[in-house]
Amino acid sequence: MGKVMLEVNDLTTKYITRYNEDVYAVDHVSLQVEEGKTLGIAGESGCGKSTLALSLMGYYFPPLYYTGGEIIIDGRSISGMKPDDVRRTILGTEIAYIPQAAMNALNPTRRVINFIEDVILAHDPTENKKFIYELARASFETLGLPPEVLQKYPVELSGGMKQRTVIAVSVILRPKVLIADEPSSALDVTSQKMVIKMLKNLMETGFIKSMIFITHELPLLYNVTDDIMVMYAGQIVERASAREAVFDPLHPYSKGLMGSIIVPESGLRDVKLTAIPGAPPNLKNPPAGCRFAERCKYVRAECRYTNVALYDAGPGRAYRCILSEKVLRDCYEHERAIAA
Ligand SMILES: Nc1ncnc2c1ncn2[C@@H]1O[C@H](COP(=O)(O)OP(=O)(O)OP(=O)(O)O)[C@@H](O)[C@H]1O
Ligand SMILES: [Mg+2]
Repeated sequence: MGKVMLEVNDLTTKYITRYNEDVYAVDHVSLQVEEGKTLGIAGESGCGKSTLALSLMGYYFPPLYYTGGEIIIDGRSISGMKPDDVRRTILGTEIAYIPQAAMNALNPTRRVINFIEDVILAHDPTENKKFIYELARASFETLGLPPEVLQKYPVELSGGMKQRTVIAVSVILRPKVLIADEPSSALDVTSQKMVIKMLKNLMETGFIKSMIFITHELPLLYNVTDDIMVMYAGQIVERASAREAVFDPLHPYSKGLMGSIIVPESGLRDVKLTAIPGAPPNLKNPPAGCRFAERCKYVRAECRYTNVALYDAGPGRAYRCILSEKVLRDCYEHERAIAA
């Protein structure tokens, strides 16, 4: 096993809305990412992927609140640190986050170099601008971006270039963990390929040491990640290697999400995560028992009241369902036989 870059134990966070309602968006999430590895996070809209990403940085501000759990980056726990200390000593260097739709949220009145100054000065306010410029230029060169981009305003860049710039700015301090939330979703196919190539390159050149990758595109999830975690209604419902999660999912939700029958490799082209009939529960008031019970084809009476744990299913593999692996596989096999 490689060195663990990110370890998260039982992390729980919630939103408190302006009507004073709690939204339990991240519920007892535990995970590990080793050096050189990419962990994918999958799950339908609203399941808590972005909230988890945000929560992993240990930097909380209303309406998001930390309620429990531990985050350890490269052996150092950051839980309980003051927000100011997190901003100064953790963000950018230990862990960096590319928010969903970040490229569309850039302040249009500032140049790219100004964004880089922000990241570096937040970490060390004494750094001088000439040094920052030199560092930025060298990084952009290594990452295959023209240094002229540094002097441009966001509006002067194409979508693909804007997104690659956002990534370059995020990793300028060479973080140990990079969290990329839907980094290529809004882009055309060519730009998407370039962004993915850049992310892979960041790992190969050692710019980042590990990555968490959130996407709705199944082929990307499979091609970019080593392991996959499937989330449902704020909880992890399955954790497996990318191959197992995509081609041999155990949890009925993962099974539905990955499409009922996927032909290996070639069949993955252009496949999006599948829509499952029904809607997830309201996270203000999650149901007792299995949260997926309402939509599950294989639901049993006890699913609705049993608090289901995440069961260990071999190395690196776990799933949250009271049915045994054998029963689940028999169900899937039966369905496949009927469909054939
Ligand atoms: N600022 C907020 N205040 C209250 N609830 C919120 C807030 N932001 C998100 N939520 C709720 O938290 C839950 C998780 O949202 P989140 O954005 O993390 O989902 P997601 O998996 O990233 O979805 P998507 O795939 O659409 O990006 C949802 O029920 C959402 O409505
Ligand atoms: Mg999101």
